[in-house]
Amino acid sequence: MTLSPAWLDELRARTTLSAVIGPSVKLIKAGREFKACCPFHNEKTPSFTINDEKGFYHCFGCGAHGDAIRFLTDQRGLPFMDAVKELAGKAGMEVPAPDPRERERQERSAGLHDVMEAAARWFTEQLDGVDGAAARDYLKQRGITDATKRKFGFGFAPDSRGKLKTALKSFGEDRLVEAGLLIAAEGKQPYDRFRGRLTYPIRDARGRCIAFSARILGPGEPKYLNSPDTPLFDKGRTLFNLDQAGPASRQAKRIVIVEGQMDAIALDQAGIGEVVAPLGTALTDAQLERLWRLDAQPICCFDGDSAGQKAAVRAATRALPHLGPERTLRFVALPAGQDPDDLVRSGGKEAIDALLAAPEPLVERLWRHEVDAAPLDTPEARAGLKQRLMEHAGAIGDPNVRQLYRDEWLRKFDALVRPQRQGQGPQQGQARSLYPRREWKHRSQDIRGMSEYGARGGRFAAPNPPALESTRSVHKTGIEPAIARALLSGFILYPEALHDHVEELAHLNLVDRGSASLRDQLVQIAMSGQHLDRDGIKTILGSQAAGIGVRRGAMRFSFTQAGSNPEVARSDLGSALEAIIALSEIEVALSEATTRLKQEISEVGYAEQQRLMSARKSYNDRLALLASSE
Ligand code: UTP
Ligand code: MN
Repeated sequence: MTLSPAWLDELRARTTLSAVIGPSVKLIKAGREFKACCPFHNEKTPSFTINDEKGFYHCFGCGAHGDAIRFLTDQRGLPFMDAVKELAGKAGMEVPAPDPRERERQERSAGLHDVMEAAARWFTEQLDGVDGAAARDYLKQRGITDATKRKFGFGFAPDSRGKLKTALKSFGEDRLVEAGLLIAAEGKQPYDRFRGRLTYPIRDARGRCIAFSARILGPGEPKYLNSPDTPLFDKGRTLFNLDQAGPASRQAKRIVIVEGQMDAIALDQAGIGEVVAPLGTALTDAQLERLWRLDAQPICCFDGDSAGQKAAVRAATRALPHLGPERTLRFVALPAGQDPDDLVRSGGKEAIDALLAAPEPLVERLWRHEVDAAPLDTPEARAGLKQRLMEHAGAIGDPNVRQLYRDEWLRKFDALVRPQRQGQGPQQGQARSLYPRREWKHRSQDIRGMSEYGARGGRFAAPNPPALESTRSVHKTGIEPAIARALLSGFILYPEALHDHVEELAHLNLVDRGSASLRDQLVQIAMSGQHLDRDGIKTILGSQAAGIGVRRGAMRFSFTQAGSNPEVARSDLGSALEAIIALSEIEVALSEATTRLKQEISEVGYAEQQRLMSARKSYNDRLALLASSE
């Protein structure tokens, strides 16, 4: 049945929340609100607050939060419709009649729930019976305690094609097939799906058995057999152990995703209950959504082997479109060759807690993946890395998060590919660890400390303060002449760069005439296909080239000085050019956005303006960084 949002709002409006909660919890009046000891976690001083006006409760201790319906489903464990009916009865409202097809579906699945419960009961009886000896041994050998065995409802499916079918025949074969307990192959009698396996139920968020997973006791294939998708069970929407991990996550203030269901069980036994597992498939959007309702940054705790790490990257990629200020993933990798079950057995809860204490943010995890994907020994390979990173960033739906990912990855990329100073060539392995975040801080402090750059109009102030007009290197009208001169002298001093960048150079929006005409000559030289060295270029350009020399006190780049490592200079020149071009485009877009905003104030317009301004700042920061790093 679908209840309209308007009807539900009416129901909430007619319900006094404190009257719903009152019977289960002792309430203390506190101003316009009520306070109580939270019914969702253990506490002695009340941090649970009820606001009748807003119709919401909130616990400042464990974060439990909801309305009257939520209270009845979460605290009293009522199914949603039962909660609605109870509240509607008290409010004197009539629950709209269900549409007949929906009712039929509900009745069918209600019937299937009974079938699944009966099967679960029967499996546990088999585990405790004579047939179950081997399965009991297996559990013991895996260190599963009796308490865990009961908590997770372990059972045993005997090695027979008809025992379950006979035991549950009162439900009718069709229902058993529909529930996925029997296999109906064409032309054959339906037979038991699970045979000779240890079973455990897969439960929905409310704790109802909707499927089974069954493990073979010895070697053999497949190791795990799951129920097929049924009216009750949709593999892609289900998370194993969600019913128990949900409440546990509120106390633990985290939620953990592991790959194997037995891993989730082992961790629960060790005292880490806030653990779920998908059902042998990659995480789906639906599963991510469920997880984000429990915690803003679920931790993926996947195996250290290549399959596990592939799964981690897949989860990260999958999450990108949905990232937001309160929605991300974090990652930890287990030591290679160990899964959480192994680790908790060898190192106990402490080993797992230690691992979970320092998770890697998503932005870092994907960066690491892409950097490690292939050697970066050619410009093509480095360009490939940059392209992959920008594609990932492009997949992010939230504009602010997208921009911040771009900024961070570009910054890391620059630090990584820029060869080390003092004339050393790039050394990938080393460069990677040599340019962490610290390097950035270190440099920006350097810049701040350098009066040389700050004094002359502060054109290249430290990257951190907000971008002032005076820090701009590109204006609406064009590129700042001093920057233009710096770029041109770069091409004169390092003419090999001309061939890489002639297109960009040709399109630069240069405002002062001298620079523009010099640029035109450089472009002509490049187009003519002559391979000229520094002296050759200078000869052709004559006195013009001399005039371009960088003046005292202007910003100095590696490429504005004759004695730099040529590789460094060329790469810096490419980066500076790229930043200048981006800034030119941003200036145009920003000026358009501002005009639009003046015509019509809108939130989208504001967001766009903010995004462009932050992009402008980050490109100016990159330039400042280049200028300081001679
Ligand atoms: P693993 O093989 O890593 O599981 O598969 P595990 O938990 O370590 O298994 P044990 O410790 O040997 O018992 C991880 C998950 O992949 C799914 C299951 O959901 C399992 O929990 N899987 C694995 C299958 O669905 N079928 C299989 O044949 C194997
Ligand atoms: Mn295992």
